[in-house]
Amino acid sequence: MMIRIENICKVFNEGTPQAFEALKSINLELDKGEMMILSGVSGSGKSTLLSLIAALDKPSSGKIVVEGELISKLPDLHASAYRAKSIGFIFQHFNLLEVLSVEENVMAALINSGIDLTEVKQMTKRSMEQASIYHKAKQQVKELSGGEKQRCAIARALVAEPNLIICDEPTANLDKANSLKFIEILQQLHQDGKTIIVATHDPLFETLPFVGRVVHMEDGSIV
Ligand SMILES: Nc1ncnc2c1ncn2[C@@H]1O[C@H](COP(=O)(O)OP(=O)(O)O)[C@@H](O)[C@H]1O
Ligand SMILES: [Mg+2]
Repeated sequence: MMIRIENICKVFNEGTPQAFEALKSINLELDKGEMMILSGVSGSGKSTLLSLIAALDKPSSGKIVVEGELISKLPDLHASAYRAKSIGFIFQHFNLLEVLSVEENVMAALINSGIDLTEVKQMTKRSMEQASIYHKAKQQVKELSGGEKQRCAIARALVAEPNLIICDEPTANLDKANSLKFIEILQQLHQDGKTIIVATHDPLFETLPFVGRVVHMEDGSIV
């Protein structure tokens, strides 16, 4: 079992008049190597759920266990170590440092990893090759096209060799050709045995043969 989510609730602004229940008693299990699509309209709670799995935020109640570790209770310092080691997160807006080069953006994910520089450089090169962006290694991110930025973000997400890849609307800012290229890379990662979760309402994902499961969210619940 890769992920076990038990009775997760998330209330934003808890205890205030603005309190909002974004996730309502979510239960979900994901096997190692599974590829899951999280679908649902904007506001249904997809990003909130992903941020809890990635330990970017904590649930109001319930339990999240990833690879045997109870991550819903991790103190912040451990949460960031868990993210760096175990999770590759790919965002819609890429979240890259625009004035740094591709290579520097990718290497930055290994800062504080304790891995020595020679190996960091090898891992960075390997990851850029895997994401088909090595030919732009020295280029500043701000000079890249949208598709290239996405591939840089993929390289950064993969560099620490995480077992779990989480993508939030990864193709929302890509044209069809780049979306298909992105899907090709995901398929390779799936073949490599990675566990993958993609929140998306891009219809391109619905018919992919390697998608194991589509989970649909509505108003903070799985339906
Ligand atoms: N930090 C926050 N504070 C208050 N409300 C939030 C916060 N983040 C998300 N929400 C609300 O929670 C709901 C689910 O948001 P989100 O998980 O981003 O949905 P999705 O990713 O499916 O579009 C939305 O109604 C959103 O406005
Ligand atoms: Mg979202």
